[in-house]
Amino acid sequence: MKIYINGKFYDKDNAKVSVFDHGLLYGDGVFEGIRSYKRRVFKLKEHIDRLYESAHSIMLRIPMTREAMIKEVVRTVKTNNLDDAYIRLVITRGVGDLGLDPRKCYAGPSIIIIADKINLYPEATYKKGLSIVTVATVRNLTEAINPQIKSLNYLNNILAKIEANNAGSEEAILLDSMGYVAECTGDNIFIVKSGQLYTPPQCMGILRGITRDAILEVARKAKIAVHEHVITRHEVYISDECFLTGTAAELIPVVRVDGRQIGDAKPGKLTLELLKRFKDLTKTEGVKY
Ligand SMILES: Cc1ncc(COP(=O)(O)O)c(C=O)c1O
Repeated sequence: MKIYINGKFYDKDNAKVSVFDHGLLYGDGVFEGIRSYKRRVFKLKEHIDRLYESAHSIMLRIPMTREAMIKEVVRTVKTNNLDDAYIRLVITRGVGDLGLDPRKCYAGPSIIIIADKINLYPEATYKKGLSIVTVATVRNLTEAINPQIKSLNYLNNILAKIEANNAGSEEAILLDSMGYVAECTGDNIFIVKSGQLYTPPQCMGILRGITRDAILEVARKAKIAVHEHVITRHEVYISDECFLTGTAAELIPVVRVDGRQIGDAKPGKLTLELLKRFKDLTKTEGVKY
């Protein structure tokens, strides 16, 4: 495996950053998780745009144009000769002193690109569906750290994941401060009711997932009614189908929430139809290499 750090490739054992990097010391940085399918990097422009928007929001100036970043991502997957890959693109504030003042990170940001494989869940879980729980940890408040910023500080999500694991579950639903359903630890949430698709809107304090948008795109093309609408836990419990979306997990059915069976406790018809259409989209969309 060859890992890209600031324009050079390193073997896995030699791919290192300083212990003074503020990405490590403070979680000061931004990242993206991207997938490639059959030598096409899926929605690469969208991921790069979101990366630069996250960076802009935390006043981290990435020392490279978006076009150049696209080329470096493609170069990294190509160098690793992977047909299907999970790409982790990380920008840290860079090396500073032990204080948190980002102005003292004189060396500038570190740019890291890792191209590898990832399987979040075993194949059987995709067939059977997930059992998930709502957790007490509330999603980061929009006015504190906006969840739209895909920052290196994922403690909010990790705490929720720990709570889910403690409850014997793989994934957690986080609510917003009003008690509405926001999203899961690394995925957006969808429900189906009477043949229509519902997902919380961007203003609910969620990360606007690129897979989420791709699902909305294929659903609209398939003439399925979609609603970006606030969702309560009750609406999740009484839904006909439920599924999660994210670059790493892709699309995974949910069959039980807080002990309540969803539909007939099997991956739903519309869920499977959308999964098929999503897979088709990954075959045609993306930057080729
Ligand atoms: C908190 C959170 N929500 C949703 C998502 C899904 O986003 P995407 O589909 O862009 O991977 C992710 C993953 O990046 C995430 O970390």
